[in-house]
Amino acid sequence: MDAAASNPATVPEQRSGSASDLVVLGLGYVGLPLAAEAVSAGLKVTGFDVSARVVDGLNNAVSHIDDLSSEDVNTMLDKGFSATTDPACLATARTIVICVPTPLSPEGGPDLGAVTSASKAVAAHMSPGTLVILESTTYPGTTEEVVRPLLEESGLVAGSDFRLAFSPERIDPGNQTFGVANTPKVVGGLTEECGEAAAAFYENFVNTVVRTRGTREAEMAKLLENTYRHVNIALVNEMAVFCQELGVDLWDSISAAATKPFGFQAFYPGPGVGGHCIPIDPNYLSYKVKTLGYPFRFVELAQEINGRMPSYVTQRAQELLNDSGLALSRSKVLLLGVTYKADIADQRESPARPVARKLAAKGATLTYHDPHVESWEVDGVNVPRSTDLEQALAEADLTVLLTDHGEYRPKLLNEYARLLLDTRGVLRRPDPDEAAEVPAQFRRRADREGIQVL
Ligand SMILES: NC(=O)c1ccc[n+]([C@@H]2O[C@H](COP(=O)([O-])OP(=O)(O)OC[C@H]3O[C@@H](n4cnc5c(N)ncnc54)[C@H](O)[C@@H]3O)[C@@H](O)[C@H]2O)c1
Repeated sequence: MDAAASNPATVPEQRSGSASDLVVLGLGYVGLPLAAEAVSAGLKVTGFDVSARVVDGLNNAVSHIDDLSSEDVNTMLDKGFSATTDPACLATARTIVICVPTPLSPEGGPDLGAVTSASKAVAAHMSPGTLVILESTTYPGTTEEVVRPLLEESGLVAGSDFRLAFSPERIDPGNQTFGVANTPKVVGGLTEECGEAAAAFYENFVNTVVRTRGTREAEMAKLLENTYRHVNIALVNEMAVFCQELGVDLWDSISAAATKPFGFQAFYPGPGVGGHCIPIDPNYLSYKVKTLGYPFRFVELAQEINGRMPSYVTQRAQELLNDSGLALSRSKVLLLGVTYKADIADQRESPARPVARKLAAKGATLTYHDPHVESWEVDGVNVPRSTDLEQALAEADLTVLLTDHGEYRPKLLNEYARLLLDTRGVLRRPDPDEAAEVPAQFRRRADREGIQVL
């Protein structure tokens, strides 16, 4: 048992007259929705961010993330929210939640630079009795081994002078069903009392709080969730490649398997994995496992398979053109959707970029269509945007659908695209315009030549 856990002393209550119930550090995809939910639960919330652009935008009611509109930010401001670049706001916060980015370093390992600088800012200002929670995704041990010593540079001791916990963020950008309030919140405290305090804080605005034994278990829960997705996506991606050669329609097989009411969860092939979590978080776990002297083989294999998908998409695109007597180097290729997932504007780690890079390297003339992205550069080169979808489909020699935005309807694609490679299985879904189920023969085979699903 560590020193804090063995210390039975109760953490002192913070002095009254706090300026904020909550200060959120890092006002991005994770921090801002959290702040919004806390504001609507009646908490007095201040947002701290090192970016003056983000802070100025928010104080002028301009949202910079998909899940909150500028109107939502305006409502937050009306209810007392304010954003600042001044860390002095940390001095009077009852609870501080750290939601800063945890990207990969150029060597592919964890880059905890933002977490350490946020922790130092907290240490320089926090008062006794504060509850500090880390939400940034990271490897197991970070809260205790990295954050705790930095916070204790304040002279305050974790578990006795202030409370410390880890709670992974599970936000799914663009998800209309599950948000902060109705997604169960996993919480792990440094001590029993730290865990209780963190759970009580989240219960202000989250319906279900799930406690883990400690901070490491909460850190690991997040990495397990994301590694599970990464590995299962790699499984179907690898199967998609050989099913094509075997003449098996994998999409049909997945639909059939998904009818099993237990023991199976459907994952679907695609052009690669994107977003801020799936391609990055498992690296944190494999970094930690490597410190034990051996690799995390499932993650490495999944990375290899998912990382090869953009090359596979390029190869399929080339073959599809070839079947029609066209060379990729002399073809106009339209990329449909360049964000990492449907119906949001987030382009982080989107596989569209490596696909575009590979197609351009083979001489294709590229354009893109994406209702959420006004301009798009790949390696500093501007890719022309098409805004008229029907015209763009009709003019391109080949369309490669990379992101299944809602407006990419099967009927429209079928009618207008000359050649189409659908990497998301849009053609395997019922067309919302046609209400009826997609007929079985349509599910099994594309309805005309020149249309293929990955
Ligand atoms: N985006 C997601 O869907 C998602 C989901 C689950 C978990 N996460 C994790 O949550 C964390 C935050 O991700 P995000 O998507 O919100 O990032 P983001 O890039 O959208 O926002 C992070 C914000 O933190 C600010 N920042 C950077 N350093 C700072 C510092 N030292 N002090 C204060 N502010 C600072 C940045 O200016 C930025 O506004 C990451 O660890 C990420 O892995 C993200």
